[in-house]
Amino acid sequence: MSARVVTLAGDGIGPEILEPTLAILERLGDFTWEPHVFGGASIDAHGVAMTDSVLEACRGADAVLLAAVGGPKWDTTDPGAPRPEQGLLGLRKGLGLFANLRPVRPLPALYDSSPLRRERIEGTDLLVVRELTGGIYFGEKTRTADRASDLCEYTVAEVERIARVAFEAARGRRNRVASVDKANVLETSRQWREVVHRVHVEEFSDVELSDVLVDNAAMQLVGRPAEFDVIVTENLFGDILSDEAAMITGSIGMLPSPSLGGAGPGLFEPVHGSAPDIAGTGAANPLAMFLSAALMLRHALGSQDGAAALESAVDRALDDGLRTPDLGGTASTQEATDAVLRHL
Ligand code: NAD
Ligand code: IPM
Ligand code: MN
Repeated sequence: MSARVVTLAGDGIGPEILEPTLAILERLGDFTWEPHVFGGASIDAHGVAMTDSVLEACRGADAVLLAAVGGPKWDTTDPGAPRPEQGLLGLRKGLGLFANLRPVRPLPALYDSSPLRRERIEGTDLLVVRELTGGIYFGEKTRTADRASDLCEYTVAEVERIARVAFEAARGRRNRVASVDKANVLETSRQWREVVHRVHVEEFSDVELSDVLVDNAAMQLVGRPAEFDVIVTENLFGDILSDEAAMITGSIGMLPSPSLGGAGPGLFEPVHGSAPDIAGTGAANPLAMFLSAALMLRHALGSQDGAAALESAVDRALDDGLRTPDLGGTASTQEATDAVLRHL
């Protein structure tokens, strides 16, 4: 049976990295692609970043594969104007994807591509479990002539379910969870801490739990990243810490992520954005997108073999010396694609 996958190329480097990804996937299985305009491209075509019919199409798919949205063309500070990012946030919320998993595991071949010293990053294998549909991203926003506000809100149930995802993940790994919050200042964080501890005591007391304040976590991530196993945190902290952690792997162009938890399909997306500064130059690193496709094969389409084949083709291409400019090399998106295809 042919898997039905909605593809959202989006903006900037989005189309440049999605197209080779589909070519690679076609070597690994049988797919029905359902492409839709999304983000800035959708604002240009329809006046909104995601139309209702695109959300419906996503709901009916086996999986959604997204490249990236946004760019200077649509950047605005006008609270009434549409923004590409609204499409992404609306999609995550609309599909109920409250759990975003961001694995950070530097490949030995790339140890010297990281700005951090090799001895700091060696052995790092961490997973950021980012709450994705709550917090300050989705609270009420207000703006008057001389005042602006963003409400940060979490329900107990929202914290419980993301805590469970983190503890479950830890059981399949090194059995350690660091819960990152700002409980010394924020009420939402004090609730977060209480709820995480209750879930821990009641359901996961076999897992080791620690609390880390977010400012300290930001420091520890570059100071001793190998000490972390699972990091669970709220939406905004997870956004920031995962970009920081990306540099352990050498480049944000390396980090894939699945967004899961809804009743329907999952969303598979690189952690990086539309990279407007390099869009159109053919220099985008497509590996985070390829690895996101591998996660889609594994988590959504039941193709463990396909996922492993694609991941190991990426590993071997890097072992062979493949480096796009973000990793200190000169390979183009096309050359990176050819290198991965050769090893597939
Ligand atoms: P970005 O991730 O797009 O780029 C940050 C830096 O990393 C840039 O120098 C860029 O060239 C580089 N980079 C990112 N991905 C790369 C890749 N695959 N290969 C090589 N280099 C890469 O972040 P930004 O510049 O802050 O944001 C640009 C736009 O992207 C904004 O509109 C933002 O809202 C949007 N964005 C979208 C997503 C998404 O769609 N999931 C994620 C993050 C940012
Ligand atoms: C990400 C991005 C998005 C986020 C933006 C584009 C809304 O930065 O996926 O990390 O903040 O969640
Ligand atoms: Mn981000």
